[in-house]
Amino acid sequence: MKIVIIHGQNHHGSTYHITEMLTDNLTTSEDQVSEFFLPTDGPKHCIGCYRCFEEGEACCPHKERVQKIVKVMDLSDIIIINSPTYCLSMSGQLKTLFDHLAYQWMSHRPKKEMFSKTGIVISTTAGAGAKKVTKDLSQQLFWLGVPKVYQLPVKVGASSWGGVSNELKEKIEVKIYGVSQSIKRRIGKVKPSLKHKITFELMRMMQRKNDWNFVDRGYWEDKGWLGHERPWK
Ligand SMILES: Cc1cc2nc3c(=O)[nH]c(=O)nc-3n(C[C@H](O)[C@H](O)[C@H](O)COP(=O)(O)O)c2cc1C
Repeated sequence: MKIVIIHGQNHHGSTYHITEMLTDNLTTSEDQVSEFFLPTDGPKHCIGCYRCFEEGEACCPHKERVQKIVKVMDLSDIIIINSPTYCLSMSGQLKTLFDHLAYQWMSHRPKKEMFSKTGIVISTTAGAGAKKVTKDLSQQLFWLGVPKVYQLPVKVGASSWGGVSNELKEKIEVKIYGVSQSIKRRIGKVKPSLKHKITFELMRMMQRKNDWNFVDRGYWEDKGWLGHERPWK
C-alpha cells in the first residue's frame, strides 16, 4: 500500500504527532509512505495567471513543485492531509497548494486515479475550528474526485504536543486506533457516492456545452467522459 502525507506545516507539533500515530496504526514495513512538508516542499503562492486552466498544468510557473506532489498523489492508495487550525481555517501554505490543484477539480480536468482513493484529513485546535478545517479539507478532496474521506478533528487544548496531557494523548490513541481499523477494512473497496456521481454528471453536462475552455473540453473528450466512459469502475 502506498500512502502520501501532505503536512500543512513544517514543524512537529500536535498535528504531526497525531498523524504519525495514525500512520503507525495503518502501515506495516511493507507499505510505502511519502511525506511532503509545507511550505518547504510546496509551491509559491498562486499568482492567478490561469495558465493551468487555459494552457495546461505544464504551463504553471510553479509546475516543478506542484507536479512533484501530484505524481506521488496519483500513485498513492491513501492521501493524508493535515493542518493545524489557524484562525478557524487551514494553514495558508496548505491553501496555497490546493489553489494549485484547482485545475484538477471535477469542474475542470479531474484525474481518473483520484476516484478510487481513500482520503484522511486531520486538524488540531487549541479550542475551536478543527471540525471546520477537516470539513474544508474534505471538500477539497471531494472536488478532486476522492470518494471516501475520513475526517479527524482533534481539540488538544494546547499550543504544542508537549502541552497535551497524557490522559488526552491516551484518549486520542484509542480514537485513532478505532478509525484506523475502519479505514483498513475498507481499503481498495471505496466507490464514488451518489453525491459524487451527481456532481460528475453536472460537470459532464457543463463540459458538453463548453465553448470557453478547449483544454478542459478536449480532456473530457479524450477520456470518453462526454460519452459512456466514467472515471470509476
Ligand atoms: C496563527 C495561529 C492561529 C490559530 N488559530 C486558532 C483558532 O482559530 N482556534 C483555536 O482554537 N486555536 C487556534 N490556534 C491554536 C492551534 O490551532 C493549536 O494549538 C494547534 O493544536 C496547533 O497545532 P500544531 O501543534 O500542530 O502546530 C492558532 C495557532 C496559531 C499559531
